[in-house]
Amino acid sequence: MLHLIDKLKDKFENDLAKVQSLPEIEKLKIQYTSRKGKVAELFNQMKDVSSEERPQIGKKLNELKNHINSKIDEYLAQVKTKSAESQLDLTLPGRNPFVGRKHPLTKTLEEMKSIFCRMGFSIEDGPEIETDYYCFEALNIPKNHPARDMQDTLYITDDIVLRTHTSPVQVRVMEKTSPPVKIIAPGRVYRRDTPDASHSPFFHQVEGLVVDEGICFGDLKGVITGFAHKMFGSDIKVRFRPSFFPFTEPSAEYDFICVFCRGKGCRVCKNTGWVEISGAGMVDPNVFKYVNYDSEKYTGYAFGMGVDRIAMLRYGIYDIRLFFENDVRFLEQF
Ligand code: PHE
Repeated sequence: MLHLIDKLKDKFENDLAKVQSLPEIEKLKIQYTSRKGKVAELFNQMKDVSSEERPQIGKKLNELKNHINSKIDEYLAQVKTKSAESQLDLTLPGRNPFVGRKHPLTKTLEEMKSIFCRMGFSIEDGPEIETDYYCFEALNIPKNHPARDMQDTLYITDDIVLRTHTSPVQVRVMEKTSPPVKIIAPGRVYRRDTPDASHSPFFHQVEGLVVDEGICFGDLKGVITGFAHKMFGSDIKVRFRPSFFPFTEPSAEYDFICVFCRGKGCRVCKNTGWVEISGAGMVDPNVFKYVNYDSEKYTGYAFGMGVDRIAMLRYGIYDIRLFFENDVRFLEQF
């Protein structure tokens, strides 16, 4: 009987080695493991085996049965993965997932923040919905003052506005800290403007404020020019023009030479060769009064910076509306 078991095992190994297809292995499975198969046949013969030999032979027969089953399962599993592979066309091109990217304004702002941080500025934040007090009053723009006409304000109530500039953050920062102060405050601002190539009812500014003993206009010019060089290259020209803001004295507006045409005149700079960036100046002592800073001891400068304008210069974009239309064909280029 033991001999028969070994013989059947050898025969199975031989048969298995010859198998080449799914139908063949199915046939083999039936031949060996079905109820009337070769293994069952041997089990039937167990009744003639003496009771001493039975445990040993029974064990061996069970081992053979398990061996055959697992060999057949193994083979079937292999055939399955092979057929799955043969249905795969590995030469097909892949399907590209859509890869998002940062908005050009976000990229510009990140670059601006990084430059100012390297100059030792820290970053502050303030609300876009602002009170009249922070947006105007504490910046030396009293109610009914003609200077209010400089910015077309979107009012929520008589006392609550959408901030027209990031300058209110100056007041909020000075209220909670004493000098020295060296901060920038980036954010969105709103104005009652009809959209065109250079106007949008909302846009972005970076406010700058430095207060300490002995700060002068030269420090302001140095920081703005240093920024322009870091952002656009050391050959970029900056020009300051005398101007007026109620919260700075003296005040200036400043321009960068058009990076796109290098001053020759183009669509971006409307053929002037220069692009206006924003305003700046020495903090007016009246503003210091509102935040209880000693204007005999401290001086400071403040500046605004138009993020959208800088992004337009950086990428040669001539229409501010492109930033807000969110046309993927435009955004994909950055
Ligand atoms: N807040 C001014 C504006 O939006 C710019 C500015 C900031 C001017 C700081 C002077 C100092 O036009």
